[in-house]
Amino acid sequence: MGSIKVAVTGVGNCCSALIQGVHYYREHWDSLGLVHETVGGFKAKDIEFVAAFDIEPSKIGRDLSESIFSPLNTAPKIRELPKLDVKVTEGVDGESGRNIETARSNVVNKLVESDAEILLNLISGSAHKSSRLYAEAALEADCSFLNATPAIIACDTTLVKLFEDRGLPLVGDDLLDQIGATALHMGILEFLNSRGVRIDESYQLDVGGGAESRSTFEKTRDLKRKIKTEAVSKSVSYSFPLVSGSTDYVDFMNNQRDSFFWFKGRYFSGASFTMDVKLSTIDAPNAGSILIDAIRGLKLARKRGLKGVIHPISSYGFKNAPKKCTVSKAYNEFKRFIE
Ligand SMILES: NC(=O)c1ccc[n+]([C@@H]2O[C@H](COP(=O)([O-])OP(=O)(O)OC[C@H]3O[C@@H](n4cnc5c(N)ncnc54)[C@H](O)[C@@H]3O)[C@@H](O)[C@H]2O)c1
Repeated sequence: MGSIKVAVTGVGNCCSALIQGVHYYREHWDSLGLVHETVGGFKAKDIEFVAAFDIEPSKIGRDLSESIFSPLNTAPKIRELPKLDVKVTEGVDGESGRNIETARSNVVNKLVESDAEILLNLISGSAHKSSRLYAEAALEADCSFLNATPAIIACDTTLVKLFEDRGLPLVGDDLLDQIGATALHMGILEFLNSRGVRIDESYQLDVGGGAESRSTFEKTRDLKRKIKTEAVSKSVSYSFPLVSGSTDYVDFMNNQRDSFFWFKGRYFSGASFTMDVKLSTIDAPNAGSILIDAIRGLKLARKRGLKGVIHPISSYGFKNAPKKCTVSKAYNEFKRFIE
């Protein structure tokens, strides 16, 4: 089948878990922890990282296999990696506004030179201007775009039109983790609804550590709460008091995340129930399986000559997809798409 050539922006925790995971599946015959063993004939091990960009000086200039283990990243180290022969290059810092044009054209050149097919955007969730600049660089370099961050890219109709005009596919926005709080919240509500329960109220709140939790807590809390609550509200056809959002930052938790869920409702003949759930996860590996599906799905879309937002991938793998639906419907549509 050949490989899928991926360039990545943001050599942080998510990137570390993803690259280690791809190597894990190169060495293990089983598909433990993957939602789909193959997508369009591609396996996880077929993903090849050909370029990487960051703006953190201590991560730039080093081989990607070392840079992902920077002390600034707190995602667990699950294995040693061979040298990947990919040097992390300086990216575009749209938020600082410094050297934008030069940096952007360097990114485009690097994408072309490395023969990247997909640009995977994993930069900090608050770096909205930079995310947009990377989407524009992908367009110029003829790359498909995967936006895992909460920046509005696949939901921006002007940008989407540019991708359509260039004949390129894109997916996003804001990755939906494999067993993250949003996916589980949606799943439990859908289950209760399918069992005839009347849900009266529900909330889900998170506590986490690491740079991204801090950035969410300080800069994007309201946006995150809006995205999550909107996504979760699609699980049930009627409205009820509902909140889903990240709440707090605890530095010593590093890459760990605790998610608390509350449900109150009524079942047969109005009998009432309440339910408390706590989910404890490590954040970075929670993105891996869905990222690997979305990357392979994008490759498939490109092979089929599809352009613009690929809805079956976006609705399945992203919290803020342009078309939102229940987790089960999104899963079935993704399955149909890859078959
Ligand atoms: N499970 C998950 O981890 C998960 C789930 C959903 C969404 N996301 C999103 O994925 C993104 C990455 O998450 P993370 O936990 O790896 O974050 P992180 O803070 O660990 O890493 C972000 C990296 O991006 C770099 N960066 C910042 N601005 C940049 C720019 N302009 N150009 C290049 N690099 C830049 C930082 O230096 C850092 O290395 C975030 O936007 C997050 O919201 C992650």
